[in-house]
Amino acid sequence: MTYALIIAFDGPAASGKGTLASVIAQDYDLPMLDTGLIYRAVGFLRAQRGLTLEDVEQLVEIARTLDTQTLDNPELRGREAGEWASQVAALPEVREALKRFQIDFAHQPGGAVLDGRDIGTVIAPDAPVKIFVTARAEVRAHRRWLQLVKSNPDLAYEDVLADIRLRDERDSSRSSAPLSMADDAVLLDTTDLGIEAAIEHARRIVRDRRGSF
Ligand code: CDP
Ligand code: CDP
Repeated sequence: MTYALIIAFDGPAASGKGTLASVIAQDYDLPMLDTGLIYRAVGFLRAQRGLTLEDVEQLVEIARTLDTQTLDNPELRGREAGEWASQVAALPEVREALKRFQIDFAHQPGGAVLDGRDIGTVIAPDAPVKIFVTARAEVRAHRRWLQLVKSNPDLAYEDVLADIRLRDERDSSRSSAPLSMADDAVLLDTTDLGIEAAIEHARRIVRDRRGSF
């Protein structure tokens, strides 16, 4: 039987999961999907089209017809898009509409790396390697602030921390696929780790988990 290497990175905002996922994807020459970007795109299009969270049918249609060009929009990486993403991500109908694409991506022949909130629990519960990346909220807010302040010099750290706390709370408490660590995931707390050290930890976890299959 061919064994596909699916590597799942989950965790809260700015924990470092995206950076780690892309390094591991390069290491193993695997395709990678940043699933947060998909939710960001739906949230962004909702705001752009003036839809509310009650316009579920239209939101589902947006989710079903998302194209890869939309995902290239740099505005999706911004602060507002993160907030809008977490609002639409709490709608079970939107999650359902985005599910098949993510499941198929994860289970393509040869394997894949995905990062998000529910990869190890919902999208690929069968993934042989699951890493739950986290860090203290203040540390994550500082990292995100450093990223965002480059294009928005007036941005206050406190506002980024408030955004992150709000999103953590919403993502963890929603009824549909809340942010939670899979029973068989390995916890990687990067609070006291620089990016290089975090990469080394992630590489070791992947090597160890692969070795046990
Ligand atoms: O990069 P960051 O962690 O700030 O955010 P992201 O991964 O781009 O995700 C943006 C939002 O999308 C999150 O706050 C979640 O509400 C939602 N999301 C989700 O619900 N499930 C996923 N698999 C990925 C993202
Ligand atoms: O994908 P996620 O939102 O979890 O985080 P990211 O975009 O990978 O990382 C957010 C920022 O924190 C990036 O600029 C990373 O280089 C940085 N980072 C860090 O400084 N130290 C770590 N241990 C992990 C990430």
